[in-house]
Amino acid sequence: MKITIIGTGYVGLVSGVLFADLGNDVICVDNDNKKINLLKKGIVPIYEPGLEEILKKNIKSKRIKFTSNISEAIKLSKIIFIAVGTPTAKDGISADLKNVYKVAKDISKNINNYKIIVNKSTVPIGTGDEVEKIILRKNKKNKFDIISNPEFLREGEAIRDFKYPDRIVIGSNNLKKTKPILEKLYLPIINKGAKFLVVSRRSSELIKYASNAFLATKITFINEIANLCESTNTNVEDIAIGIGTDQRIGSRFLRAGPAFGGSCFPKDIRAIVKTANKFSVDLSIIKTVIKSNENRKKLITDKIIKILGSVRRKRIGFLGVTFKANTDDMRDSQFLKIYPKLLKRGALLSYYEPTGKKYEIKSSKIKFVSSIKQILENNDMIVIHTEWDEFRSINFSNFNIKKGTKIFDLRNLYKIKNISNKKIRYYSIGRPNYE
Ligand code: UDX
Repeated sequence: MKITIIGTGYVGLVSGVLFADLGNDVICVDNDNKKINLLKKGIVPIYEPGLEEILKKNIKSKRIKFTSNISEAIKLSKIIFIAVGTPTAKDGISADLKNVYKVAKDISKNINNYKIIVNKSTVPIGTGDEVEKIILRKNKKNKFDIISNPEFLREGEAIRDFKYPDRIVIGSNNLKKTKPILEKLYLPIINKGAKFLVVSRRSSELIKYASNAFLATKITFINEIANLCESTNTNVEDIAIGIGTDQRIGSRFLRAGPAFGGSCFPKDIRAIVKTANKFSVDLSIIKTVIKSNENRKKLITDKIIKILGSVRRKRIGFLGVTFKANTDDMRDSQFLKIYPKLLKRGALLSYYEPTGKKYEIKSSKIKFVSSIKQILENNDMIVIHTEWDEFRSINFSNFNIKKGTKIFDLRNLYKIKNISNKKIRYYSIGRPNYE
């Protein structure tokens, strides 16, 4: 099938590369020429394990092309995916839809024959209706259909999530015409076991937000239980297994940690609250999740200060600063909320990050170091901020760690009983302390 994907961010690029790998002819469009030139050379501008190899393979077999010529790309394909960013707007809450509407206008000017326009961007309920109105200004109703097809892939796991999703959600108000085409496109994935769910367009738009809100709630729930564990000498990991084995609850997304971050959860839960407000509906649980998650970043910062007594002139080294492992993404990383208070209180901060120096860290006072060794051997406290495999397998005995060094493991990477190094004091999340 001939597919055009507009937007080469996480969702657009991963979808484009993997649709090509399924045997389709894909054109990826972006207005960022620099990005397009890199992609043409087979260079992936984001960190996503395995993606570059699949990209190179499909460039070689000419199944994927990159261009900034949106008009031509629209004319050449029957299925047009919109996969542009919907960041938080200036008000700090709503989804900013200007990219989506701009693309809708571009599409409206270039419809030469029947098109299925599939929206993969995360958009509030009713955005499909708005896109339809924009395109109707220049085109007859029978020339196109607008579908919602949210994407649920996680950064760092994007390839697996795209190939083996639990479900594919299609929201359409013209099922008769659009369902068989979308079903055919997704058939290789459906055949591997993904459920193919067909709902109305507005319901599909809400499914994406409700999924993210539920997962964020689940994480926040276990994070609050972890707080209780710390005060009652109980172990949050035992609790997570104890409740997660109940199939009504489920064991995934019950890892306590430093608060959730990233490009989706924080932005999407703010946006769903905003949408609900518009309809005079009070999403009180989700509002509480937002508040609890923000408080958690303060709580973690305060715990660092408490463990060290005072942080003034104390050296604190972070292992990882992105919002989770296997990504180079700093969007809504917890670290960005943790470091300012530490700096203000006079701490001397450094970090090692497997994906390199981070320019999103505004302060020049925070030193980037290029090895785990430099973090382990030169600090009063080591904060394990993300769960990269290379942090899981550190043999502390192989390093010249100063006596009394404190390790604060925000991801519970180590079994407390295995930390036998006498020089270290080990702290983690929701588990009885080492001492
Ligand atoms: C998320 C959704 O999972 C995905 O379906 C959607 O399409 C985009 O948003 P992503 O942001 O890539 O994906 O990462 P995810 O793995 O879901 O983690 C989000 C945050 O929650 C991270 O900060 C992570 O560390 C945290 N998290 C996740 C936990 O603290 N505990 C968990 O058990 C799981």
